[in-house]
Amino acid sequence: MTTTLTGPSAQARAALRRDATRVLLANWTGMSTVPSRTLYPHQWSWDSAFIAIGLRHLSPRRAQRELEALLGAQWGDGRIPHIVFNPAVRLDAYFPGPDFWQSTTAGRAAGAPPGVETSGIVQPPVHALAAALVHRSDPESSRRRGFLKWIYPRLVAWHAYLLRDRDFTGHGLASIVHPWESGMDNSPCWDGPLQRIVPVPAASFRRADLAHSDPADRPTDLDYGRYVRLAADYRGHGYRDAGTSHPFAVEDPGFNALLIASEHALAGIARVLGRDPRPHRERAEALTDSLVRHLWQPHAGMFLCRDVRADRVIEEMSVTGLLPLVVPSLPGRIASAMLRTARGDHFGLGSTSALVPSYDLLGSAFDASRYWCGPAWFNINWIIERGLRLHGAETEASALRHAVLDAAGASRFAEYIDPLTGRGRGATHFSWTAAVTIDFLARHDHGRDHEHDRREYR
Ligand code: SER
Repeated sequence: MTTTLTGPSAQARAALRRDATRVLLANWTGMSTVPSRTLYPHQWSWDSAFIAIGLRHLSPRRAQRELEALLGAQWGDGRIPHIVFNPAVRLDAYFPGPDFWQSTTAGRAAGAPPGVETSGIVQPPVHALAAALVHRSDPESSRRRGFLKWIYPRLVAWHAYLLRDRDFTGHGLASIVHPWESGMDNSPCWDGPLQRIVPVPAASFRRADLAHSDPADRPTDLDYGRYVRLAADYRGHGYRDAGTSHPFAVEDPGFNALLIASEHALAGIARVLGRDPRPHRERAEALTDSLVRHLWQPHAGMFLCRDVRADRVIEEMSVTGLLPLVVPSLPGRIASAMLRTARGDHFGLGSTSALVPSYDLLGSAFDASRYWCGPAWFNINWIIERGLRLHGAETEASALRHAVLDAAGASRFAEYIDPLTGRGRGATHFSWTAAVTIDFLARHDHGRDHEHDRREYR
C-alpha cells in the first residue's frame, strides 16, 4: 500500500469519487442502500448511518431518506433493529432471515412494527451523529422536508431505550446482549463470555454468507452456533430485556462512545430545532464519566470491555477500546494514552499498519483475514480519524485519511483489509467503504466539517 503525505492527485481523487459513487448507486434499492449486493442484501442499521454520511455529498435528500427508512422500522420500545428486511429479497439470500427473527409475531409485545420484518437486536448508536452531519450538508432541504423535526424524537427514544432497558449494572452504560450488537461480531473479546453459551448444532442451520465470501474471512461455524442460540433465546423471551437473564451481557466501550458522540449530536439537533440542548449535554457528560470510571484501564492504555455476567474486565485489546477517542470531553491524560496505544506495537498506526486494525496485532487470537479478529475496517478508521482530529493529532488524521483513500481504491472498496498487507478481504463494492471514501474526499476538497466540528465541541 502506498501512503503519501499529500494524498491522491486531483485526477486520482476524481476517479475515486466516480468509482465510489457507482458503488453507492448500484447498492441503492429505491428505499435504502444494501451494505453489499451479495453478502448483506437488506438494510443494516449502522451501515446505513455511515452510508448516509457519504451519500450526503451526492444527494442530501437521499441521505435523509436512508435514515428515514431505517427509523421507519423502529420498535415501540425505541430500539432500532440491526436489520430491516426487504420483502422482495429471497428468504434464503441471507441467514438468519425474517423467518428466523419473526419480529412481527415474537416482537409484538416489545413494539415491533407490524408492517415490516426486522431483526430484534441492535447495532452501535451512530445514527444521531449521522443525522446531524446529513442536516449540516444541506440545511435548506433538511428544513424543507422537516428532516430533523421528524427524526429527533425517534433518536431520543432510541437513546432512551439503550439507557433504560440496557443498563444492567446501574453504571449508566448500555450493555450489548449479542456479539452482533457490537458490530464487531467475532471479536476475540467475546470468546470468554461466549464460553457460557451452548452452540446450536451446525447442521441445524444453513449459512448463506459462505456462498459469497472466503470462509477464512468469516466467523467459524462454532461462532455461528452460539450467535444463533443467543438470538433464538432472546426471541423466545419476546425480545424483552426486563426479566430476561441475558447470558451474554457486555459493556462495550466503542458502543458507549458512539452513544456519547451521538448524544452530543442530539444537543446540536435540539438547538437547531429551538429546544433545550442542555439535557443532552448533561447526559453526554454523565455517560463520559461512567465510561471513564468503569471501562478505562490504565494498564492497557485503552478502554477494555466488561463482562457483566462474570463481573470481570475482558483482557483483550480490541479497537472498540480506542473508539472513545471520538468522545469530545475525554480527560487529556486518557486521550494522550490512547494516542500512544494506537501508535504503539499493538495497533501499529502509521508503522506496521496504515489503518488501525480491529484487534491487537500481538494478541494470541490475531488473524489478519478473519472479519473482526484483526482486519482493518473503513468505518472504524473513519471514527478513529475523527477522534484524532478532536484530540489535536492533525498530521496523523491527515495521513490516515490518505491511507484510507489508497486502500479503498486499491481494494475495490473492500469490506475490510488485511492490516499488514492492505489486501482486500470479505466482499468488494462495500457501501460504507465507498461512503467513507466520498466523505474523506469531500473533506479534502472543502474541509468545512472539520472547522464546524471544532467549533461545536469547544
Ligand atoms: N454482521 C452479521 C452478519 O455477518 C450480522 O449482522 O450477518
